[in-house]
Amino acid sequence: MSVNVTVRKFDAVIVGAGGAGLRAAIQLSEAGLKTAVLTKVFPTRSHTVAAQGGVAASLGNSEEDHWHWHMYDTVKGSDWLGDQDAIEFMCRKANECVIELEHYGMPFDRTDNGRIYQRPFGGHMSNFGEKPVRRSCAAADRTGHAMLHAMYQRNVKVNTQFFVEWMALDLIRDAEGEVLGVTAMEMETGEIFAFHAKATIFATGGSGRIYYSSTNAFINTGDGVGMAARAGIPLEDMEFWQFHPTGVAGAGVLITEGVRGEGGILRNGQGERFMERYAPNAKDLASRDVVSRAMVTEINEGRGCGPNKDFVLLDITHLPPETIMKRLPGIHEIAVQFAGVDALKEPIPVVPTCHYQMGGIPTNYHGQVVVPGKTSQNEVMPGFYAAGECACASVHGANRLGTNSLLDLLVFGKSAGETAVETLKRTPKAHKELPADAFDRTLARLDRLNHQKGGANVHETRLAMQRSMQKHAGVFRFNDLLKEGVQKILEVQQDVQRTEIQDKSKVFNTARIEALELDNLIEVAVATMVSAEARKESRGAHVRDDAPDTPERPNGRDDANWLKHSLWYKDGNRLDYKSVALRPLSVDTIALKTRAY
Ligand code: FUM
Repeated sequence: MSVNVTVRKFDAVIVGAGGAGLRAAIQLSEAGLKTAVLTKVFPTRSHTVAAQGGVAASLGNSEEDHWHWHMYDTVKGSDWLGDQDAIEFMCRKANECVIELEHYGMPFDRTDNGRIYQRPFGGHMSNFGEKPVRRSCAAADRTGHAMLHAMYQRNVKVNTQFFVEWMALDLIRDAEGEVLGVTAMEMETGEIFAFHAKATIFATGGSGRIYYSSTNAFINTGDGVGMAARAGIPLEDMEFWQFHPTGVAGAGVLITEGVRGEGGILRNGQGERFMERYAPNAKDLASRDVVSRAMVTEINEGRGCGPNKDFVLLDITHLPPETIMKRLPGIHEIAVQFAGVDALKEPIPVVPTCHYQMGGIPTNYHGQVVVPGKTSQNEVMPGFYAAGECACASVHGANRLGTNSLLDLLVFGKSAGETAVETLKRTPKAHKELPADAFDRTLARLDRLNHQKGGANVHETRLAMQRSMQKHAGVFRFNDLLKEGVQKILEVQQDVQRTEIQDKSKVFNTARIEALELDNLIEVAVATMVSAEARKESRGAHVRDDAPDTPERPNGRDDANWLKHSLWYKDGNRLDYKSVALRPLSVDTIALKTRAY
């Protein structure tokens, strides 16, 4: 097939212009490195824009707080699957990263004495789990939006080069396994380019569009994760998906946990504040997996609301209207637009909705991609970094705490950028030559899409995938449904391999892009289903009916056999496992115990 591939050279190429990509780019451009950022949408429209309630940091602006308490909460929230070295690193770096952001011009809300405003969030407690603490640094309920603007402006100042409406297609690796950049499509023209770089950073965000009901934007198609899988890199802990308790019923749009942080209460069809039964101490501010399961249990046991008893209510009618309009103005608007209710007067109908992938491309806390090497020790992949939701550092383990996502992307975006700068400055080198087969994978995919006849319809195939994920890998998981789910998703995968673009000529290549995105989504979906079926315990967001909470196995966890990370390889659809890093950097290990809120 004769497709011209124009090669462009940069010191670093970053894929994705959400929080992690923008933060990494600041580091590289400030160091004087020629840095390209490829993004499917204008940077300030990246999905970080949808993050509402805040970013975690133990600033202690309104009450006493400490990074070690934050670390404890994060390890507990992760159900002990998080790597404690990475968690300590993140929690210790939090204050510095938030203050930096403030200096970039981020318009945080303020306390009366002018400090950054902080609100409570689920699972964040003082004094090693005692009582909820104000740790989430917020700009009303538009924190991600404000963050993107501050960091985009900083990037403009330091001359980062943005390629807007460009989609990265495949990773370029040479025979030694070194990563040398990506192939990409200019979306408007369909032209194919190679971005040849000494450092490649993936910051492509989440893949929540594998599910039918999701708080994620349509752009969240797991592009980085799919590219990594196709290039032979394993995906870590893909069975762990977070269902945010409060998506608007029927619409999936996020209602921030900050609503409960400001005093909002979940009620069932009988008007009962049911979280008191499931989490007597933290109540509505328990961690997300606990709250989501409680809501689904209420609904399944007939205590839901509405004619079909299929949602619960989030009530803020007892809060002063001025608090709502000052701290949660966006929520008021979302409730009107998507639920048709005035939240000042009526409660909002909500259901748990797919929100966040805890797993992803395996990295260390320096932002370097690490894979098991020949001796099964983890080895750094030369030239390749990942940060934010597409990466698995692993700080969230089996369940992420709210506001730790914005923190993750700041800390590890910066860390990936810093490590790339140090590496390139320590050993300056010319661009390595591209291998002869550098573009083959991409050209084969495009060839398939251009010439497939009588193939599968992209929209229908994507829908089949989303419905399978929703049914077979939801909030509660069942052995037989998981087994059936693996079969179903492998069938969908066959269809994806023969998807046909019905309309090959349309402007902006929309149909082609949707098909290319589906190639990425399906890798995530298969990795999720296969990893979930294989993990025979309950942990964090992965709860199975055949691994119940018993005195012998509190929370349904099986630490003796399953305190380990999953690694899924596309090649052969196989699984491997690696140990959890239980040793932090400077403090004692946070010892395993039963999780209760
Ligand atoms: O509820 C929220 O505002 C979402 C925050 C998060 O996912 O961290």
